[in-house]
Amino acid sequence: MLSFKQQKRWDRHAGLWIAFFLLHNHMVASQDPDTLPATDGIPASPQEVLALLRIKRTLVDPRYALASWNESGMGACDGTWAGIKCAQGRIISIALPAKRLGGSLAPEVGNLVGLRKLNVHDNVITGTIPASLATITTLRGVALFNNRLTGPLPTGFGKLPLLQAFDVANNDLSGAVPAEIASSPSLNILNLSGNNFTGTVPSDYGAFRGQYLDIGSNSLTGPLPSVWTSARLLELHVNNNQLTGSLPEQLGNVLTLKALSVATNGLSGSIPASYARLTALESLDLRSNNLSGQFPPGFGGLPLTSLNVTYNNLSGPIPAFTTAFNITSFSPGNEGLCGFPGILACPVAGPATGPTTAEETASHRKTLSIQSIVFIALGGTLATILLVVAIILLCCCCRRGRAADGGRDKPERSPEWEGEVGGKLVHFEGPIQFTADDLLCATAEVLGKSTYGTVYKATLENGSHIAVKRLREGIVKSQKDFTKEVDVLGKIRHPNLLALRAYYWGPKDEKLLVYDYMPGGSLAAFLHARGPETALDWATRIRVSQGAARGLVHLHQNENIVHGNLTASNILLDTRGSLITASISDFGLSRLMTPAANANVVATAGSLGYRAPELTKLKKATTKSDVYSFGIVLLELLTGKAPQDVSTTDGAIDLPDYVAGIVKENWTAEVFDLELMKGAAAPTEEELMTALQLAMRCVSPAPSERPDMDEIIRSLAELRPDERFQSPRTHSEGTSA
Ligand SMILES: *[C@@H]1O[C@H](CO)[C@@H](O)[C@H](O)[C@H]1NC(C)=O
Ligand SMILES: *[C@@H]1O[C@H](CO)[C@@H](O)[C@H](O)[C@H]1NC(C)=O
Ligand SMILES: *[C@@H]1O[C@H](CO)[C@@H](O)[C@H](O)[C@H]1NC(C)=O
Ligand SMILES: *[C@@H]1O[C@H](CO)[C@@H](O)[C@H](O)[C@H]1NC(C)=O
Ligand SMILES: *[C@@H]1O[C@H](CO)[C@@H](O)[C@H](O)[C@H]1NC(C)=O
Ligand SMILES: *[C@@H]1O[C@H](CO)[C@@H](O)[C@H](O)[C@H]1NC(C)=O
Ligand SMILES: *[C@@H]1O[C@H](CO)[C@@H](O)[C@H](O)[C@H]1NC(C)=O
Repeated sequence: MLSFKQQKRWDRHAGLWIAFFLLHNHMVASQDPDTLPATDGIPASPQEVLALLRIKRTLVDPRYALASWNESGMGACDGTWAGIKCAQGRIISIALPAKRLGGSLAPEVGNLVGLRKLNVHDNVITGTIPASLATITTLRGVALFNNRLTGPLPTGFGKLPLLQAFDVANNDLSGAVPAEIASSPSLNILNLSGNNFTGTVPSDYGAFRGQYLDIGSNSLTGPLPSVWTSARLLELHVNNNQLTGSLPEQLGNVLTLKALSVATNGLSGSIPASYARLTALESLDLRSNNLSGQFPPGFGGLPLTSLNVTYNNLSGPIPAFTTAFNITSFSPGNEGLCGFPGILACPVAGPATGPTTAEETASHRKTLSIQSIVFIALGGTLATILLVVAIILLCCCCRRGRAADGGRDKPERSPEWEGEVGGKLVHFEGPIQFTADDLLCATAEVLGKSTYGTVYKATLENGSHIAVKRLREGIVKSQKDFTKEVDVLGKIRHPNLLALRAYYWGPKDEKLLVYDYMPGGSLAAFLHARGPETALDWATRIRVSQGAARGLVHLHQNENIVHGNLTASNILLDTRGSLITASISDFGLSRLMTPAANANVVATAGSLGYRAPELTKLKKATTKSDVYSFGIVLLELLTGKAPQDVSTTDGAIDLPDYVAGIVKENWTAEVFDLELMKGAAAPTEEELMTALQLAMRCVSPAPSERPDMDEIIRSLAELRPDERFQSPRTHSEGTSA
């Protein structure tokens, strides 16, 4: 049977195929047999009908899939023969996937001189691939994967001028891996995986002109070609062979590469430095080889979302990847790797200032924690963290409870959101599924309160966590306007923006917004209220600011949304992976609210020290006022101080004034968070100054003097922490918490 995955894959091929036609405008899209009607009314030529009947005869057809192929030969091109399409009396397409066909492919297939597509994947066809197939010059697509074909691949396919997709994966083909097919002029997809091809990979594969190349799971030996000239390759899979030698340096020039798998071979040597240039690379599988050495400099900057280097012999620091990889991406194996939080710490050097530092740290941390107490006490408006569990109740609808007491009692329900089934729950795209009942039955714990409402951590019956924002009464627009706006917000997806997963509008106008739950809490809490054992190093601070900047840019440029209320409390941290990543929350909410409610929010932001000065007069937030707020967050990360810590209640002094004051007195070094100066990860003076100057420009009183978000992203990229970690440093001593 044809699995969904396989069908999808072939669909992708078909999609590419059409795209390919459109790209190459000397061909017209209508030439793709998929887009043509089965018949144009012209009857099939007798020679072709004979060939089809011959093909029918050598196939074994236990389910009568070919019953419509009338032995009289009548109607072959009338559109009545299963899987057959014709044009001008020629058979152009045979499509009989997953029909349990056995037997073999008759050599007469070569007589179909107009055939463009042969698609009989997912059958149990045995025997060899007829050599005559490689003589059909009109051939565009061959899909023979998931059969039981044996023998070598005939030569000649490499000369077919129009061949675009050739997939014979998962058969029992053998012999030397064919060289010439890789240099086929139009070939876009070549999949030979899952056969028993032997020999070394011919150099022709390094000159493959298509986008998908898969020769994995064969019996290939020797080194990979050293010359790679492709400018289009998207995926290269050579996994599960017996390849030796090193990773080809030149593959680092194939800048289009998105997926590379060399897993389970005998490759050795180190990861070439050139691979740090593969800025499209999303998936890298190097597992089970004999690779050694360090990750090359800059490797952490690749947009990898999937990585496995286990069972190698890599060493040195793990780069600061933007995706938070799980330890199972690196270990077992690679005993010499370090820098994975809590598991494989890199040696940390003591600070240059000598033995007094430990005391300084202690006293500094004491002040910090005192500050954080003050912060918590003051933060009644936006960032209060009520650690007390507010309610733990199973409500009405909980099937369990009902079954237990036979439905006698009036069901209890959560006092927090007065759920009654009958409300409207609307899901947006996302992994967590739940019903309105599940939501209303969830146990909830208050995480914080804001002008718009209260946020809860809710635990669903299946144990998964979600964040639920219960909107205050009387601040939301009409249901019609709300629905229109919330549908827009629910479609926004970006790794640095907290995704809205669902909303609920209850029968009594209860309004709940459901988000992903971020276990790291807010940046404000993390930065100012953490214990002394939780370090927040330079790399993490830069990564958090980069994440927030990317989120903000996406809002401004792609969604046309001004945040209007960016604060350290609205930047949430995901601490589940190896690296802390940041997501912006609360964006776009102003669109759901009445103008009065929004004015209230702007006022509150002012009292917290994040509001741009021009907003005291002008009530409407702009992208430049967002830049101001971002600048305050950046100052917060650099100084370790919350704006509330230094602001006077009358607003006479704020965080920018405080910083400017110290800088003016030439005490610049004092302004930075002491904690930053410690350890292997300490930034250079130059980096600190660059970051400080950037932050100060963001908080310029005049909006026109503030940089735009694109410039901010570029400046932050220069502070990119991952590269710096690559160069080994000499350290005086090793201390680690
Ligand atoms: C095959 O074609 C002949 C002649 O047109 C017709 O009599 C017969 O019914 C057809 N058989 C099938 C199975 O369609
Ligand atoms: C090649 O075929 C195999 C087996 O069907 C499949 O798993 C793999 O994804 C294919 N490779 C490419 C690049 O499409
Ligand atoms: C693959 O081919 C080699 C050499 O021809 C042979 O020894 C081996 O048994 C084959 N393996 C499989 C799984 O068919
Ligand atoms: C792995 O590489 C090391 C040198 O880097 C070599 O000594 C060792 O033999 C290799 N092991 C295998 C299984 O190839
Ligand atoms: C791992 O690499 C180190 C050098 O980087 C080498 O001394 C050691 O033998 C290697 N181990 C294995 C199992 O290949
Ligand atoms: C890592 O991932 C595996 C499976 O993908 C999971 O079982 C494990 O709990 C994860 N570990 C951590 C620390 O997240
Ligand atoms: C990496 O590969 C190993 C070995 O196949 C596997 O056990 C592990 O789960 C993989 N890790 C990830 C994150 O895919």
